[in-house]
Amino acid sequence: MSLTLAILKPDAVGAKKAGKILAHLEGAGFTVKALKLVSLSKAQAGEFYAVHRERGFYAELVEFMTSGPVIPMVLEANDAVAKLRSTIGATDPAEAAPGTVRKLHAESKGRNAIHASDSDENAAREIAFFFSEFERIAVR
Ligand code: RTP
Ligand code: MG
Repeated sequence: MSLTLAILKPDAVGAKKAGKILAHLEGAGFTVKALKLVSLSKAQAGEFYAVHRERGFYAELVEFMTSGPVIPMVLEANDAVAKLRSTIGATDPAEAAPGTVRKLHAESKGRNAIHASDSDENAAREIAFFFSEFERIAVR
């Protein structure tokens, strides 16, 4: 078993799709190990997506991720990082496979409902970004 981090983004939370997406993830075989609702500051969103700082969409991404509350969660499964990436589908919902979270719930490439870690190393960093050791009791 391994861990990954998902974030239900402001579009999904604002549209009250959190319950449906959580059910989708649980139905796909993930176990929720930690979860909360938070509103990110510009500095926090900017730090989280710092890897994209030089990209043209960075300012838009930070603006979007601070436009409303988000729901970060730690998910466990066999090969959790790859499994979650395939469960959510391609970044652009127009290119996402049928039945994936983004095909079902995302509006556009920018407003795409959910984030997923892209490597075990980034999953560990992103889990630590959002959850204190106390909040990760179930993860240990
Ligand atoms: P994420 O990190 O959110 O799970 O998404 P991802 O790996 O599928 O895509 P990534 O390349 O890491 O991009 C991060 C987020 O930036 C926004 N984006 N907008 N307008 C655009 O061309 C564009 N490209 C990326 C998306 O919200 C994407 O999820
Ligand atoms: Mg990414």
